[in-house]
Amino acid sequence: MNLRALAAKVAFQVLEKGISLSVALPDQQKHLESGKDKALLAELSYGVMRHLPQLDKLVGDCMSKPLKGKQRIVHQLLLVGCYQIYFTRIPSHAAISETAEACRQLRFEGLVKVVNGVLRNIQRQDKPLPTDNDTLAFNTPAWIVKRLKEAYPQSWQEVIEHSHQRPPMWLRNNKLSQTRDEYLAALADIEIGASAGKSSDAILLDSPRDVAQLPGFEQGAASVQDGAAQWAATLLAPKDGELILDACAAPGGKTCHLLEQANIELMAVDFDEKRLERVQQNLDRLSLKAKLVHGDAADIDSWWQGDKFDRILLDAPCSATGVIRRHPDIKWLRKQSDIEELASLQSKILDHCWQWLKPGGTLLYATCSILPQENEQQIRSFLERTDDVTLVPIIEQPNTESIGWQITPGTENMDGFYYARLVKG
Ligand SMILES: C[S@@+](CC[C@H](N)C(=O)[O-])C[C@H]1O[C@@H](n2cnc3c(N)ncnc32)[C@H](O)[C@@H]1O
Repeated sequence: MNLRALAAKVAFQVLEKGISLSVALPDQQKHLESGKDKALLAELSYGVMRHLPQLDKLVGDCMSKPLKGKQRIVHQLLLVGCYQIYFTRIPSHAAISETAEACRQLRFEGLVKVVNGVLRNIQRQDKPLPTDNDTLAFNTPAWIVKRLKEAYPQSWQEVIEHSHQRPPMWLRNNKLSQTRDEYLAALADIEIGASAGKSSDAILLDSPRDVAQLPGFEQGAASVQDGAAQWAATLLAPKDGELILDACAAPGGKTCHLLEQANIELMAVDFDEKRLERVQQNLDRLSLKAKLVHGDAADIDSWWQGDKFDRILLDAPCSATGVIRRHPDIKWLRKQSDIEELASLQSKILDHCWQWLKPGGTLLYATCSILPQENEQQIRSFLERTDDVTLVPIIEQPNTESIGWQITPGTENMDGFYYARLVKG
């Protein structure tokens, strides 16, 4: 099937069915043979998600009435067509004819003329990108813009800008396999430009690569993980022989990093059985072992009767607003009401995990959110309602007075993330 038709299907799955881009895109990519075509499909799919309000407006302005019901996929196809005209170097005539052909392949022959006409109009009119309101100007739902303005009065525009940039690719050197310097040298040998990040295993690639090109990737020499996420293992600092709980573990990036740090007994728990399979796949590639549990981190008693834990990583379910640059569909899949629901789930899991931490033990609370409700405010209320807790400042946080370390997207090339280190007693 024509690549534009596949891009329309991806957009339809995300926008009409609520399926995440990271599931919908690979589902359609498997119909394509060449790496180049797969990359173009990704570019069109990500592009539509990044610029959705502006594309919607440009397309809507050229239609007499909106497409509804089953024909909605043709609307998504028009977004794909419009994205090509405004944001790619594909010649407009080729973009338009390919997109019209896609309409035929999607079995909407009766709408081919409409697609052709709308896209030709858009091209001819060559209007500036619409910026009439915050949603259009920032390609972000108004409620997210509002919350970011409140949280970052000085820098909210920068935060949004960074959330729309193409993210870099970070690797995590597996120190059980080789030192970071050795891996950097192996990358240099095959002319892959890279530099060391601030945390001990982090490597920032000059440009993203297919993992198949990375030395020893299949054998577990390195993993793909953002620089911000790599701070979790460093900040939790597990020691040999300790019993550790990774309370929300899937897909297991941090689970594996913890196991690469020290010889520990690790329980990796997740609510989602399907995602837990990915933890096992990651462990297998790296030849690591953990005890996987399909269970609720807010009900540990139901699956664990052993000792309390020396350290707990609570990488809580969150809005993921810190990783919009990697998952632009988050902007359209999240609702305003999700934030309060997530905050209450986070506090429930946090209170419960705290009961399972040994005196003197450390709990690292983490989210990939940039909203204070899930981060500073969450930890502030935990500190207020809990007697036996000390907040231990993180050396990297720019302001030692602040509660926890809020990383905003783009800071030192990292994703948006939040860490708070809590010690019992
Ligand atoms: C931010 S992700 C974890 C990412 C993971 N730590 C990593 O580094 O790859 C949050 C996870 O929490 C899980 N989750 C949500 N509610 C949970 C609960 N009550 N108990 C256990 N896991 C839960 C979700 O299924 C999801 O996999």
